[in-house]
Amino acid sequence: MNLDDFEQLVRSRRAVRRFRPDPVPEETLGRLLEATRWAPSGYNLQPARLHVVRDEELRGRLFTACLDQKQVREAPCVVVFTGDRKCFRAKRFARILAMDLEAGAINEQYKSFISQIVPLAFGRAPLGLGGLAKRLMVPAMRLLKPTPDLPAFQMDFWLAKQVMLGAMNFMLAAHAAGLATVPMEGFDPVRVRQVLALPRSETVILVVALGHEAGEGLTKTRLPLEEYVVEH
Ligand SMILES: Cc1cc2nc3c(=O)[nH]c(=O)nc-3n(C[C@H](O)[C@H](O)[C@H](O)COP(=O)(O)O)c2cc1C
Repeated sequence: MNLDDFEQLVRSRRAVRRFRPDPVPEETLGRLLEATRWAPSGYNLQPARLHVVRDEELRGRLFTACLDQKQVREAPCVVVFTGDRKCFRAKRFARILAMDLEAGAINEQYKSFISQIVPLAFGRAPLGLGGLAKRLMVPAMRLLKPTPDLPAFQMDFWLAKQVMLGAMNFMLAAHAAGLATVPMEGFDPVRVRQVLALPRSETVILVVALGHEAGEGLTKTRLPLEEYVVEH
């Protein structure tokens, strides 16, 4: 694929709200989920969870949780993107580090660096400090040296950044496969959680309906590039 093809792909993808009932081929769906898996994430922590909902009855219940947005009932497949608030737990993180090291994705030096950073950035109470003390540490340290905000205290924000990158991969891959999607933030997260019996550690980030477009023939617009770009 060259840049022309890529531009054509991103410019022709649209949010589609009318779907035909034809099912999404299993093999294609698998490839879309794979494309999602290969999205980047901070420290390669891979917090995204993809809940695939094809069952009609369950989609009917999701439709209600998604504020009666009809695409949730019409599309043959709905994927609920969540982020795992416990993605940094020690055993799991050690597994990722070992995989990365063995594959040559990171070196020993980087491994030992992030082995220290991740528990500090994500855990709420290292070094015997309570969460509040740690929260106060950031502005205090910032007076002395550049200090990042800690995911520990804005976990849902951190998760949203990670999960949305995968969701975009998913939507572009679907479009490349001739399928249509619509991303949705119009849902009641408490009800989505109940319908899918999600663990408490998962935050619902985005719901995406997937299927074959019923032919709305929509176009799209964007504000001019000058309103996006700020030269410094
Ligand atoms: C984070 C996010 C949430 C959205 N939520 C909804 C939604 O709940 N319902 C809906 O019909 N469209 C939703 N949309 C679709 C937008 O309305 C649509 O992407 C936008 O109008 C631009 O159109 P395009 O996707 O065709 O380029 C959402 C889009 C994004 C990125």
